[in-house]
Amino acid sequence: MVSVEAKNATDEQPGQPGDPCVMVIFGAAGDLTKRKLIPALYNLAKSNLLSKEFAVVGFARAGMSTEEFREKMSREIREFATDQVEPGLWEWFTQRLHYMKGDFNDPNAYRKLGNLLAQVDKEHGTRGNYFYYLATSPSYFSEIVRQLGEAGLAQEENGRWRRVIIEKPFGRDLDSARALNREISKVLTESQIYRIDHYLGKETVQNILVFRFANGIFEPIWNRRYIDHVQISVAEGIGVEQRGGYYEEAGTLRDMVPNHMFQLLTLTAMEPPISFEANAVRDEQAKVLRAIQPLTPEEVLTRTVRGQYGEGTIAGKRVPAYRFELNVAPDSTTETFVALKLSVDNWRWADVPFYLRTGKRLPKRVTEIAIQFKRAPFILFRKTPVDRLTPNLLVLTIQPDEGISMRFGAKVPGPILRLGSVNMAFQYKDYFGSTPSTGYERLLYDCMMGDATLFQRADMVEAGWSVVAPILDVWKALPPRSFPNYPAGSWGPREAEELMERGGRQWREMEK
Ligand code: BG6
Repeated sequence: MVSVEAKNATDEQPGQPGDPCVMVIFGAAGDLTKRKLIPALYNLAKSNLLSKEFAVVGFARAGMSTEEFREKMSREIREFATDQVEPGLWEWFTQRLHYMKGDFNDPNAYRKLGNLLAQVDKEHGTRGNYFYYLATSPSYFSEIVRQLGEAGLAQEENGRWRRVIIEKPFGRDLDSARALNREISKVLTESQIYRIDHYLGKETVQNILVFRFANGIFEPIWNRRYIDHVQISVAEGIGVEQRGGYYEEAGTLRDMVPNHMFQLLTLTAMEPPISFEANAVRDEQAKVLRAIQPLTPEEVLTRTVRGQYGEGTIAGKRVPAYRFELNVAPDSTTETFVALKLSVDNWRWADVPFYLRTGKRLPKRVTEIAIQFKRAPFILFRKTPVDRLTPNLLVLTIQPDEGISMRFGAKVPGPILRLGSVNMAFQYKDYFGSTPSTGYERLLYDCMMGDATLFQRADMVEAGWSVVAPILDVWKALPPRSFPNYPAGSWGPREAEELMERGGRQWREMEK
């Protein structure tokens, strides 16, 4: 049953619509546009969070007319909408879709884009506000920004704003991330740059902050005096699917750790910010990243584990080894699994290890942060039949069964004192129902509102790459010899267990 408090918590708080603006999507013929961006914009329109003065300009190399683009989106929304599509609203929305064909490095195309934007702006009353979404291959990021600058399309004046959203991956190591930051800052100020990490669009990730800072009872124990260690797991059942080409270049470390996993880590470990203003929150996240001790080459050998899946069975289905996936070399040394033990060297977290693991083709999809508290002293139960006391565990499940659970010891009913472990669990859907969303709504809306809290700042991206840099270096110098080293459908290589065992700990079982 839904309690009164829960009902109050779900009372609608209508927000104000985003600023009037045009969103230009570079790479509009690609996957992201149809799967996430258009469905997210539609959801915003449905929630009255999209200005009535709004338009989209799709820009890509594919030859297509505006009419064809509208038809394509109308076909695809049927597949990718997260909720029922209302014909009237969709019709209103499609009237705001425009398209132009162009090469990302052709100055002429940007001149044409400028003309089209002026026309669209006039037609839809968008007040000269434009934001550009770079949904292209990363190799075009700095070129597109440079061209926008040259064409005068990035300049803010007379109260008109210009912003750029950049997809991941932002660089492929520290040097390339720095170079990209340098290039784009020749054209844009930091406040115009929105580096996206779609993990920050997830409700449950945003809720980490609310959970920590809107509740008085957790913060006093959120430190080294009470916490034994933290485990952050991002497990995926899927393999590399059609992305073998990209994955061969990236590997799991680059693909997941400096971005998604570090978002989870920083939100868990950061100090309370002085406000929820963008820079206040990001300052605290950046401090955590800077406090993570870079691993020495010796530590890379003892505190990191890499793996690659061989063939195996997932959910009763045989699946091929990574080396047999499309566009993957038959002797590939690319990792599909990573486990790390990191230390955040500050007063709050000294000596509290943060264990991270992520991989493809694990038994199931689950993302969670598990905070294991120190054991209670045994003294009181010495003379009772208790082998050991299970430590308290707080688990924040990010996906797919969003919720929070707390494990604690309880007396098993009966004439003798026996202890059992029980769980107190909260599930989002029980209280709030499920709100269908793509995860991009909030991020797009925030960009329209000029709120960069949930986007990465230049120094954060660089700090993240600095942490993984020594690992990339050692791994490159010492190619793995035992790949594949875990069967698809298992929890990763044996070494990942050993990493935990060396600290007298173990990974949380996530079978259920
Ligand atoms: C992407 C990675 O950024 O995140 C993918 O490139 C990964 O490899 C995906 O599968 C995971 O995102 P989510 O939202 O499914 O957890």
